[in-house]
Amino acid sequence: MGFQELIVFLEGTGIADSIRENDNLFPLIESMHVLAISLVVGSIFAVDLRLLGLAWIARPVSRVTHGILPLTWAAFVVAVGSGGLLFISNATKYLANDYFVAKMILIAIAGVNMLGFHFIGARDQSAWDNSARPPFKVRFAGGLSILLWISVVICGRWIGFTMKLG
Ligand code: HEM
Repeated sequence: MGFQELIVFLEGTGIADSIRENDNLFPLIESMHVLAISLVVGSIFAVDLRLLGLAWIARPVSRVTHGILPLTWAAFVVAVGSGGLLFISNATKYLANDYFVAKMILIAIAGVNMLGFHFIGARDQSAWDNSARPPFKVRFAGGLSILLWISVVICGRWIGFTMKLG
């Protein structure tokens, strides 16, 4: 099954039909999406502000990340699940929407930035874990993350205004 066939298959499922046809299901799922992404972006900002040396500077970076990131990942799972349900309800049209495509690309880049920080930037974390102002590479990862997630939210918001339904 190719990518296009998969999209048509997903859009033709009973659950996609129900979300598309029922007046309440889409706004209900989108409300869940908005709640989940608020937790994802809000918690990531909290960590990024510590990485930038702008908040909780009396706390070791590791204590901030260990306390917050489990919540981030849990909310991310809900954001992807709810987003996926919204997506299959009009998959072909969302894939033709530049803001939706841009949002997916930005989420992927934000993921690469997070992995890059985790596997490269944080290798010598014991050297700066307690410092109020972490080294440039760490502040850069935090700053880039904030810019990327703001862009994801802006693209997400613009999807609804630019969707060509019907
Ligand atoms: C954690 C990452 C994500 C963030 C921060 C995010 C952000 C947003 C935002 C801000 C909106 C607009 C909500 C509104 O104004 O009511 C939105 C809508 C939407 N998102 Fe996400 N999203 C994320 C992940 C996903 C994923 C993974 C998918 C799909 C697989 C997805 C699919 C959608 C769809 C289909 C809409 C509805 C657009 C519409 O027709 O109004 N999102 N998202």
